[in-house]
Order: sequence, then C-alpha cells, then structure tokens
Amino acid sequence: MEPHTLFDYEALAEPRLDRPAWLFYSGGAGHEVTLRANRDAFDRIRLLPRMLQGAKAADLRTRVLGAEVSMPILVAPTAFQGLACPDGECATASAASAVGTLMVAATEATRSLEEIAAVATAPLWFQLYVYDNQRALAESLVRRAEDAGYRAIAVTVDAPRWGRKDRSIGHDFDLLPGMGTPNVGDIDLEPAALSWRDMDWLRSLTSLPLLLKGILTPQDALLALAHGADGIIVSNHGARQLDTVPATIEALPAIAEAIAGRCELYLDGGVRRGIDVMKALALGARAVLIGRPILWGLAVNGPDGARHVLELLRDELELAMVLAGRPTIASIDASLVRL
Ligand SMILES: Cc1cc2nc3c(=O)[nH]c(=O)nc-3n(C[C@H](O)[C@H](O)[C@H](O)COP(=O)(O)O)c2cc1C
Repeated sequence: MEPHTLFDYEALAEPRLDRPAWLFYSGGAGHEVTLRANRDAFDRIRLLPRMLQGAKAADLRTRVLGAEVSMPILVAPTAFQGLACPDGECATASAASAVGTLMVAATEATRSLEEIAAVATAPLWFQLYVYDNQRALAESLVRRAEDAGYRAIAVTVDAPRWGRKDRSIGHDFDLLPGMGTPNVGDIDLEPAALSWRDMDWLRSLTSLPLLLKGILTPQDALLALAHGADGIIVSNHGARQLDTVPATIEALPAIAEAIAGRCELYLDGGVRRGIDVMKALALGARAVLIGRPILWGLAVNGPDGARHVLELLRDELELAMVLAGRPTIASIDASLVRL
C-alpha cells in the first residue's frame, strides 16, 4: 500500500513496530476518551469557504517566535524516537529541515540535543522536562540548548507524574540495547511537581523565548503570560496525561480570547489533515505541531517517511487554503469556521 494520508502511515506503522512500542506510541490515558475527542472535535468543525478569491496556489510561509518556517506545521517533541527508526531524532531533524520547518527536540530523546542540532538546518526548539531534585540538570540542559543554537525552550507543564494508559498496562517497553537518553544520562528520573514559582526560576535562567507546553485553560494561559511566557502550546500531551480533558481544538478559542494576541499560541493533539491545521489557525493558533504521525513516518520509511508525512500535510493544507479562498496565512481568520 502506498501511503496517501497520515492515517495510511498509522496503519502501515503498526505491524512494523514491536507491540510494546506501538502501544506506547499510539495509546492515550485511561480509556482514551480524550484521544478520540482530539480527532472528533476537528471533524465536527465546519468550514465556510469564500469564493472568487482569484488564487490557484497558497503561500504557507510564516514566522514562529520570529523564525521563518515554510509552513505552520511543526514537529512536536516525542520521547524515544529511536524505537521507530535507528537514527531516531536525527532522522526527524533531517526530515523537518528538508521541508524547512521547525522541530522541537525532546529532553528524553535517544540522540543528544547537540547531535540533533548538528543535523538540522531549520530552526529548533528544545522541550524541557524538569526532574525531581534536578534543578542543576535543568539549568545545564538550558545552557546546552543555548550553546547548540536552539531558538526557544518549551517547558512541559502537564506532567507532575506520568499519565496511566490502560492499553499499555502489562506491556512495558524497553529501549533497545545500546540506546539511551543521552541528554539526561542513565539516571532514573521522576518528573518534578513544578509550581508557578518554578516558572519564575526558569524565566530567570535564560533570555531565550520560553513556551509553556500543556496549558488547557484561560486561567493558566493568563498566569503563563504573567510569569513571562513568550508562547503557549495548548496541548493535552496527545491525550496521554489526564483522560477526559477537552480536545485541544475545543480548548483553544477561550485561551485565544483571554490572551488577545499578547503572546504566541500553538496547538497540538490530533492534527492529521490539512483542514485541521487551517481550523486551528482560524481559532487563534500561529502554528500546529504533530507528534505521532512523525513516529509513523519514521517507522514506515525512516527519514523519508517522516519527510513524506510533513509533505502530505503541507500539500493538504495548501489545497485547503486555495479551496477555502484563504490563500495566505494572514487571510485565515475566525470567519472561516463554524463551531
Ligand atoms: C510517544 C509520545 C511521546 C511523547 N513524549 C513527549 C515528551 O517527551 N515531552 C513532551 O512534552 N511531550 C511528549 N509527547 C506529547 C507530544 O509532544 C504532543 O503533545 C502530542 O503527541 C500531540 O498529539 P498527536 O500525537 O496527536 O499529534 C509525547 C507524545 C507521544 C505520542
């Protein structure tokens, strides 16, 4: 089967992955109410196209925290990409760079942040986990990211503990022999229960832009702004933490209204089609990120698969923008959608 959609990649990836890795990648928290909602909520939104706009092609270029990217589709941080293909995060970095878009490298990557930076020619952000009693480690990761040329730090705020996925119970996965998480070494780490005070500490560590990843309410979005965030990633961690939280596309409008343009908003969770990207932009996101589809691309065809996933989504978005009569990013606004 030739993959023509991101769903095709998912179907092709499943038999290529070890069962525990597949379950770890694909699963969501609890009995996956939010995992389904992340998709269903996108499908429920109706598009209201404008006609006679005189455009046969669309311009997808945009800026994310000042950095130019070829399209408003970025790569979300996902741990342990080495389970999907041998080059892991370096394969992803070359795929994202080939299409001119930004990758967020994960703290729990199977390649070091320096190795990833050595491959990437497009901008990078670094996703930071802070671990229990490991402030010095967090600070050193921020320094290393600065030194390696990362453009921003995205601190994940939705994981004081790991969510529990029914599907994965009894199916623990192991990293392959020789595979580790070189950013943090071999120490056994527990996530820290961060507080808003810790955000002030993180803000004071670096002059790089700071994003908070995992915000779902306008209240927390306003606190993020008050604590100096330059950006917010509206995210439910791919529905992997607390089941029955809203779909991210449902959470976005109220957050966009509260923030009113005072910092940049991003969204991830369930983005699988070009029309999903357009809907997220219409509701206030500057760009979206995709998590699992990149893993499917890696599993099916290594860096070429991850690149093809990004190209498929890009081409879908480009066609959708033309058919919707919104041929530029700036022309996508709330009048495009009916909730
Ligand atoms: C296998 C897997 C591992 C992930 N690891 C991380 C991580 O290390 N740090 C993080 O902030 N988010 C992590 N996430 C969440 C993603 O960054 C992102 O929020 C989510 O995957 C987006 O949803 P999608 O997979 O439906 O596109 C992970 C998600 C998956 C599926």
